[in-house]
Amino acid sequence: MAKLALLGGPALGAPAPEPHPRFTDQTIDRVGDLLRRGQTVGLNRNCAVIREAEAAIAAWHGVSECLGLSSGHAALHSALQGLGISTGDEVIVSPYTWGASVSCVLHAGAVPIFADVDPDTGLLDPASVEAAIGPRTAAILPVHLYGQPANLTALARIAAQHRLALIEDGSQAHGAVHAGRRVGSFGDAAGFSCMGGKLLATSEAGYLLTNSKNVYWRACLNTQHMGRAPEGDYPPELAPYVDSLVYTYRLSQLDAVLLQDQLAKLDDENAGRAWNVAALQAHLADSRVLSFPTFGPGDAPAYHMLSGNFDAAAAGVTRETWFRALRAEGVGVFAYVPSPIPTWPRLHWQTYDGPPIGWQATLCAAGVDYRQVAVPQAVAKIARSVEMGWNYLDRQPARMERLAAAFWKVEEQLDALRAWEHAEVVA
Ligand SMILES: Cc1ncc(COP(=O)(O)O)c(C=O)c1O
Repeated sequence: MAKLALLGGPALGAPAPEPHPRFTDQTIDRVGDLLRRGQTVGLNRNCAVIREAEAAIAAWHGVSECLGLSSGHAALHSALQGLGISTGDEVIVSPYTWGASVSCVLHAGAVPIFADVDPDTGLLDPASVEAAIGPRTAAILPVHLYGQPANLTALARIAAQHRLALIEDGSQAHGAVHAGRRVGSFGDAAGFSCMGGKLLATSEAGYLLTNSKNVYWRACLNTQHMGRAPEGDYPPELAPYVDSLVYTYRLSQLDAVLLQDQLAKLDDENAGRAWNVAALQAHLADSRVLSFPTFGPGDAPAYHMLSGNFDAAAAGVTRETWFRALRAEGVGVFAYVPSPIPTWPRLHWQTYDGPPIGWQATLCAAGVDYRQVAVPQAVAKIARSVEMGWNYLDRQPARMERLAAAFWKVEEQLDALRAWEHAEVVA
């Protein structure tokens, strides 16, 4: 076997994924047509392009209401506002996610409370969520991270028992399935990101889902141009409050076209991603150092990223050394979440001395001290987590064979890697 590239041998090279997102000629023509006609703005649901995109997304998720928005953060923030979550409320969140799953709560004026996660998947642990519930808890906000479905059955049961709202962050999980149903329809509301790197990729966009007209219109009131008030079914009780004191979270018509057309390809693309994951996992089934979470019957991730776990004790080298060896071969491995969110300095109002941020006053008034938060399972997941971007959409067995070969090349030369690591440490 060839010497490891990290030790001076030839790199094996990893197979290239598809360029993503891919837009069809028909989509590009539709966008071109809007541009030629100068039709970029869509202020209300009477705009047919936006309305059609929202209707298609709502039907795909099996919910009654979809509100197209400018980003995933806007969608989550709108969901919280639609549910009336604000100052004085606490929302149980994950310490292991993209920051926007938490900053949406801060921007709503509420206080995030961190529960712990499952150390294999990094998804919110329902038992830890239940233990975090207090008198001010208003909602639970699980994230379907990397496209893995959170345990919505357990979380919905906890939310119902304690009369809490359930808000799903599906930003990385369009098409993930829990208990045989697509995520996004289990909670009182859900927010999804559709920026260009996501499974349902536009340029910059997002959407809110709910089965409640009440939540939908309250979200509109605070985030849409004049609350979308000119629409026929606007609730009269909200009419006195319609004004332009809103967050500007509008969706552009151009992105609405992309949303609708990309959605039409999504099931097929997700199936291709899953096919490639299954092929790679079959090749790596006997690995002693890398394992992947498994999911129960009825659950299926939609692979925005592929996340696994590295066993440093079995490997005899650190994850960083193993990463370096794989990267030298051309494999783009990384650890997505750098540290538990409660350790991030911008949440430590007691010691923070950076540029002013509005939420510091909220956290100070609530007296929360995130420096004391213990999330040992999130720490464990962060220490062993292995992520790869997963834009392998087309089914080409040779690519997964080649990717697996790079992992095996490193695994079969762990002795040499161990000696290299030792020499590095000594040096
Ligand atoms: C889990 C998660 N939540 C929320 C967001 C926010 O989405 P956006 O960047 O569209 O605001 C992202 C985006 O990366 C995300 O990955």
